[in-house]
Amino acid sequence: MGLEVNPNATVWFVALPFFTHLKATSQLAEILAGRGLTVTLLGSKHDIQRLQASWGHIPESSNKRNIQFRSLDIELPDLGNTVGGNARLLKPFAQAELAFEEVLKSELARGSRPTCVIVDLFMPGARDLAAGAGIPAWPFLPFLSSFLTTNLYLKKLGAAGILTLPDSLEESDVKEEFINIPGLSLMKIYEVNAIYFKCNPLYRLGQRRADFLQEADVLIMTGFRELEPQAFSALEKLLYFNALQNSRKISKIWTVGPMFPLLSDNQVSVAKELVAEKVDPCIRFLDSQSPSSVVYVSFGTDVSVSQEQLLELVYGLESSQQPFICALRTPKSDQNSYVMVQDLLSDLDPALLSRISRRSLFVEWAPQMDVLSHASTGAFLSHCGFNSLLESVWHGVPILGWPRQYDQFTNCRHLVDEAQIALEVHPRLIPDGFVTRKDVEIVITTLFHTAEGKALRERARQMKQQAEESVGENGSSSKNLETLVAHIEHLAKQTSGSSNPKQST
Ligand SMILES: *[C@@H]1O[C@H](CO)[C@@H](O)[C@H](O)[C@H]1NC(C)=O
Repeated sequence: MGLEVNPNATVWFVALPFFTHLKATSQLAEILAGRGLTVTLLGSKHDIQRLQASWGHIPESSNKRNIQFRSLDIELPDLGNTVGGNARLLKPFAQAELAFEEVLKSELARGSRPTCVIVDLFMPGARDLAAGAGIPAWPFLPFLSSFLTTNLYLKKLGAAGILTLPDSLEESDVKEEFINIPGLSLMKIYEVNAIYFKCNPLYRLGQRRADFLQEADVLIMTGFRELEPQAFSALEKLLYFNALQNSRKISKIWTVGPMFPLLSDNQVSVAKELVAEKVDPCIRFLDSQSPSSVVYVSFGTDVSVSQEQLLELVYGLESSQQPFICALRTPKSDQNSYVMVQDLLSDLDPALLSRISRRSLFVEWAPQMDVLSHASTGAFLSHCGFNSLLESVWHGVPILGWPRQYDQFTNCRHLVDEAQIALEVHPRLIPDGFVTRKDVEIVITTLFHTAEGKALRERARQMKQQAEESVGENGSSSKNLETLVAHIEHLAKQTSGSSNPKQST
């Protein structure tokens, strides 16, 4: 392939030591490399090995020649082990920043410097290091606008002394209060994300994240604008007024997602080959079901759900009468182990198991993209993690939202109230709130058998179309991506000065 590689336009990506973040980061890295920029991806050794394993091999094709990996030595916590709560994340985050500092220093000492650094929002320290060396550093944002707007707005009102949140929500009497952030859906206070309360070990990180956001010249978001027009303009407005107030340049906010359809088919074909060897049990199951009928259930791999709660869920799925796939590999909440499908099945009443035998499938892992793209899939019962929600949107599958932690509550609120492509399994579920079998049955029945459900399924189909348009010719994300590449090339030209800016390979 005659890809023009620009050796001077060099982008470093610094990924959070958290596999889902590295994976999203690697997608943008790959896209920019595919457009001729020279890219280095820095991430934890463990995550990079896992990424390369999922690609099947270290990519060597012509359009990956200009992408390099740099493994950082970081001890990762087992995300399945939730002992220590959020505090257990601080050490690997700090180690990642230190490791980045070493790489940066040694590269600068050799006289080499990137044109810009794209840094995970959770690593404001890495941003400070790059900025200290005069290198533009921009946040990488695999989040919805509502999550970012909430972060900025709460920090701003807090700093101005206008709004004081309780130190902790646990014993607070405002737990049930609503908070109305302009442009966003009305949220219960626990829906804004636990880290804005002072007792949370990540509280300070949340504050620094807000600074990173409001000081950045460029924000790179991996969603797309049409998914959240109101929340996106709320974010734009907030950054606009912030720039005016601080006499700063107005930030450029570029949405570039969803990114998976833009990846070179190399990655896709490797995945297809692996699947082709043996038809996945999920696909075999879906092939035997009727169109748009199957409820696909997955809480991702980092979310813990108790055995008692999972059993209740299965009872609810049973009484809903819909066929379903449960992909469960959920960490046990108190120990360093997972609830396994076998444990779950052995606790279920054999009579129930025989009733659902023909319309249910329990697996530990499902090929999510293939499941979502299958015509038999009718709903995704999901924890509303950002990657899962984008994948569901891309395939036009409506969501049954069951948020558990992090940004998932805000995401779920947005999907239900603004995008209107999701229903909540339980209205305004509180963190660790118990969902009954009746809740599960009602939400599934509503989606499949009511006029409200029908309208929602139609909107999910429309949103799929908008997602396709955003990455199609002249689409918002496609244009932003072009602008981003041009911006980086422009910066490279400015910094490198004269000789040999482009070299054909
Ligand atoms: C994109 O824009 C160009 C120039 O305005 C136009 O010629 C082309 O038809 C557009 N493509 C689509 C798919 O709208």
